[in-house]
Amino acid sequence: MMETDVLIIGSGIAGLAFAIKIAERKPNTTICLVTKADGFESNTKYAQGGIAAVMDNITASFESHIKDTIKAGKGFCNVETVSLVIKKAPLRLKELIKWGTSFDKTENGNWDLGLEGGHSVARILHHKDQTGWALEKALLNKMAEFKNIFFFTDLFASKLLVKNNLCTGAIFLDRTTNHPYAIHAKIIYIATGGSGQVFEKTTNPTIATGDGVAMAYRAGARVEHMAFYQFHPTALAVEEVNPSFLISEAVRGFGAYLINAKGKRFVFDYHPDGELATRDIVSEAIFKELLRTGEKHVFLDCRHLDKTLFFKHFPNIVHQCKNLDIDVFLDLIPVAPAAHYQCGGIAVNKQARTSIHNLYANGECAATGLHGANRLASNSLLEAVVFAHEAACDVAKRLPFISIVKEEIHSLLKNEKFDTKESNRNTNLKKQLRHWMYQYYLHTCLGQDLSFIRKEISNIQQKIEKNFVQYNQNIPAIELRNMSCIATLITKLQNNE
Ligand code: FAD
Ligand code: SIN
Repeated sequence: MMETDVLIIGSGIAGLAFAIKIAERKPNTTICLVTKADGFESNTKYAQGGIAAVMDNITASFESHIKDTIKAGKGFCNVETVSLVIKKAPLRLKELIKWGTSFDKTENGNWDLGLEGGHSVARILHHKDQTGWALEKALLNKMAEFKNIFFFTDLFASKLLVKNNLCTGAIFLDRTTNHPYAIHAKIIYIATGGSGQVFEKTTNPTIATGDGVAMAYRAGARVEHMAFYQFHPTALAVEEVNPSFLISEAVRGFGAYLINAKGKRFVFDYHPDGELATRDIVSEAIFKELLRTGEKHVFLDCRHLDKTLFFKHFPNIVHQCKNLDIDVFLDLIPVAPAAHYQCGGIAVNKQARTSIHNLYANGECAATGLHGANRLASNSLLEAVVFAHEAACDVAKRLPFISIVKEEIHSLLKNEKFDTKESNRNTNLKKQLRHWMYQYYLHTCLGQDLSFIRKEISNIQQKIEKNFVQYNQNIPAIELRNMSCIATLITKLQNNE
């Protein structure tokens, strides 16, 4: 059993930025940062396009970023939150730069701003096509400077300790032994990222199993907007690999075309903004086109673009395609939509507080109200860094008035030896769940009947629950149960269905 002032679960941008902020403000506070993987693995690490921000403070520019965000969110954004995030963006970006992240500049010394779908102007700062990698590296380095941050890898959070709507800590399993530990804290901050692995095709790494949302939901936290799952239109569609490699939307912002097997730029048939319409629109257009043509994927065409400039902006994409024998300057790139971003999550207020006392949430696992029904490209990293700051200010003020509460938890810490491996049954159920969740999204997009798919998902979920009792401290089984919980939240019948 361990005690700490602040317990942070997750080492992506939301977890790391908060840890640094608290450590700066409260040097005598003990901060325990825990991740289930190695320190680097996260959705953050794979971010490509960049961070949207208005770096000159002309009011009109803020207004247009706000307008684009609200338009993309289709009436479900919290307008105050949108304004808060966008207006604080320049300050937070300057901090990221101070902490060691480098964003590309043009030869004239100006920011080399990228363009993505739904943005009315180019306003995306990036580090080539590996912004997330550069960010994660800088944040991990910065965090290592603080003596009061204790970083634990390979510790899997399995359960939040919540009694009478007060969170007092969490239970963790050591990933190599499945041995359980309890960590008690004054403040518990969830930054566990998204849940793309719930779908058969996703750009998210295998850690993205929705653990934080599932744990918080089971503990009674308010969760919202989970039905709004964002698919990215252009995941590389070459073979059955998990995750799918992303071809950044910035490539279309740079001028690439989306074409069908006959070579036609078809997105204009569905929306006047063509390739640079928002992601929901472009993904839907691709699904409709695939249904119409019977093809398995469409293509990105980069052949007309300036080779030198393209390579300068997207070296990793060129390299990854080359590994698959695709020369982006000569060949078409096969692409299809894949699950990318969980727009909903644990409901939080403007300080990232959840509905459970002393429990905070930030990043992709949280629903701040910024994204509404559909996130504007490159607004996610921004949201995480802005809310890390807001949460840190709130927590720093509150910490002196909070004491650690230790719950009686012996029954949860049984020292039994559990099998650490994934069972075949688990693997099969996961495959089925992921298959039907993808079909669910596809059918929703195409406006087709969902009743049969709902039944399939529900059958699988019952089997997962039944199976779970036998393996309750086996990490793959807990992850699968979490994925099943996320599937329930995504597919829950809405009032108007
Ligand atoms: P993550 O970065 O996913 O971190 C989650 C952390 O929680 C990890 O350390 C994980 O190991 C840990 N964790 C999870 N479960 C547990 C558990 N049970 N116990 C312990 N630890 C746990 N957004 C943009 O704004 N711009 C982009 O250009 C962009 N490009 C993207 C490209 C790709 C391929 C992908 C997948 C996403 C992209 N996104 C982008 C989205 C963005 O990267 C993510 O939304 C964001 O990084 C999420 O950050 P996070 O800190 O909330 O979660
Ligand atoms: C991309 O580079 O296309 C991803 C950007 C994002 O998810 O915001």
